[in-house]
Amino acid sequence: MKKKLNLDDFGVEMWDQKTIESFRRTLLAWYDQEKRDLPWRRTKNPYPIWVSEIMLQQTQVQTVIPYYERFLAWFPSIKDLAQAPEERLLKAWEGLGYYSRVRNLQKGAQQVMRVFAGDFPKTYEEILSLQGIGPYTAGAIASIAFDLPEPAVDGNVMRVLARLFEVDYDIGNPSNRKIFQAIMEELIDPERPGDFNQALMDLGTDIESAKNPRPEESPIRAFNAAYLHGTYDKYPIKLPKKKPRPRHLQAFVIKNGQGQFLLEKNQESGLLSGFWSFPLMENQLVARQIDLFETLKDKEILETPSLQKIFEEDYGLKPSWTKGKFPLVKHTFSHQKWQIKLVEGQLKEGALLKGDKELAWVAPEAFDAYPMATPQKKMIEAYQDRTLD
Ligand code: ADE
Repeated sequence: MKKKLNLDDFGVEMWDQKTIESFRRTLLAWYDQEKRDLPWRRTKNPYPIWVSEIMLQQTQVQTVIPYYERFLAWFPSIKDLAQAPEERLLKAWEGLGYYSRVRNLQKGAQQVMRVFAGDFPKTYEEILSLQGIGPYTAGAIASIAFDLPEPAVDGNVMRVLARLFEVDYDIGNPSNRKIFQAIMEELIDPERPGDFNQALMDLGTDIESAKNPRPEESPIRAFNAAYLHGTYDKYPIKLPKKKPRPRHLQAFVIKNGQGQFLLEKNQESGLLSGFWSFPLMENQLVARQIDLFETLKDKEILETPSLQKIFEEDYGLKPSWTKGKFPLVKHTFSHQKWQIKLVEGQLKEGALLKGDKELAWVAPEAFDAYPMATPQKKMIEAYQDRTLD
């Protein structure tokens, strides 16, 4: 058995049983009246609930709904998902970001097929053993699909609890999650755990939102220590995060004689792995430039090569570079902030593509067949906004 955390040690004063029961009744009565009618709330099937929870991890409800419906139309069962080709999988998630989510979802589906003979597991520990499922998602699925009394503690829930109990610990620090987990273990309604969790989620995204909370409208204001003590604005405690790392990139928009564009598939693992975009290069490739400088010296070219020269070497193409000017493309990920400068080149021939890169000449009408992440979509827009000087 796991040792139970003592909430007193963290300055949290837990209520007596009567108050806890009254809180459950109040919260659930509000939920019964006000709950949002969401597509994944019309089922007890763990598969769609799982898909919804993974999508909702970093994406808002309104954005998720059409993705959710299309995803289930494309992959109606766990088996379909387990067998889906990568391009189709990434297409289904295109624009949602945090793409490791969908790769893990597929690995999880393959695990269900392999380890659980295609039957979604029914205990918290087994659900937690699936790829991409952490304590939050395991709790959400266990409580919503199987009525198990498991908390689902995400940022929204931590915010609500931090105000309810004036929790003086940073909700952005993962090691503090156990405090909120312990509070929830006391509070959760064993009769209706899924509704209890979802009631807190609904409260946390609207009345108890981060930016514009309306605590006076909250159905649980009479329980809310921060509200009652006039300390509402102090909670939750959230210390500033590290700033995303800036990256300066150059994109090569290369068109051939047939009006096709050169696209490259990102073969690296990690950020945007598997997605197609115009070829991209870091604008500060000092080491790479020095390498190339060495080889070019043999050919008596002595100036420091530009990124265009590096491109010509790396891709075996010699486009004529135009003077098109394009708006800078900016895109922020959670850990990186990209600034992309576009340069345009024209080739007469659809020259053959060489080397170990995965490249394709693609007409704009066929872009749809290639998974493209948001930076590439922004690049296409910027390209269309070209100005010539
Ligand atoms: N956010 C995460 N899971 C949710 C759910 N089941 N309902 C509403 N919002 C959510």
